[in-house]
Amino acid sequence: MLEVDNLNQYYGGSHILRDVKLTVPEGKLTVLLGRNGVGKTTLLRCLMGVVQTKSGSIAWRGAPITKLPTYSRVEKGLAYVPQGRDIFPRLTVEENLLVGAASKKAPKKIPERIYELFPVLKDMRGRRGGDLSGGQQQQLAIGRALMSDPQLLILDEPTEGIQPSIIQDIGRTLRQLVEDMGMTVLLVEQYYDFAKDIADRYWVMSRGEIVAGGEGANMDADGVRALIAV
Ligand SMILES: Nc1ncnc2c1ncn2[C@@H]1O[C@H](COP(=O)(O)OP(=O)(O)OP(=O)(O)O)[C@@H](O)[C@H]1O
Ligand SMILES: [Mg+2]
Repeated sequence: MLEVDNLNQYYGGSHILRDVKLTVPEGKLTVLLGRNGVGKTTLLRCLMGVVQTKSGSIAWRGAPITKLPTYSRVEKGLAYVPQGRDIFPRLTVEENLLVGAASKKAPKKIPERIYELFPVLKDMRGRRGGDLSGGQQQQLAIGRALMSDPQLLILDEPTEGIQPSIIQDIGRTLRQLVEDMGMTVLLVEQYYDFAKDIADRYWVMSRGEIVAGGEGANMDADGVRALIAV
């Protein structure tokens, strides 16, 4: 569904992504693991067009999207939940959700399925984003990304700084999106146990390069924990 080939990216003189090559199969949950600072977020920013890729290609359903602006990628079905969530603290929950539908021409209303996935957002729809807990903000960020009706949902470390019970909820919701709604998910993670529990496929990045990949069920056997242990 998504194919990344020989992608290279630099910040100033530092070579951050080195010939990155990976695929994200349709209807599956793919996890990208890697230690701090190896380039995971940089890769996601290239996928979304938030930064311009220096060389290499990104193909979506067989057609290149490498040069497209972010909004065109969203129109084609990609959605992004950034690291740190980027909730608008002074907007209400409902207003934050509506921001996610900004690219849609249809009337602006929150679909009931978003509130079914995250009942807490319905309860808190009139509250300011900044008043929510970290876990609730993460759920809001995912709900906001779902407002564009994506085919591929890309998430950057959604478990970072979040309490365990909400991490479990988020894991269940992501599996539900894949199994019940036919969505494809690409999840960047450092939390090994969480990743292993929900991954269909995995990739491991180290210093800007993909160094391993395989089936989620084989992550223990493949020694993935050691590859990302600090
Ligand atoms: N805007 C920037 N300008 C210069 N260097 C940057 C910039 N953003 C990131 N870097 C550097 O690029 C490298 C990769 O950063 P990136 O954020 O992609 O890593 P990451 O794998 O997402 O890390 P983390 O797990 O901490 O989120 C790091 O060495 C980082 O310091
Ligand atoms: Mg990151």
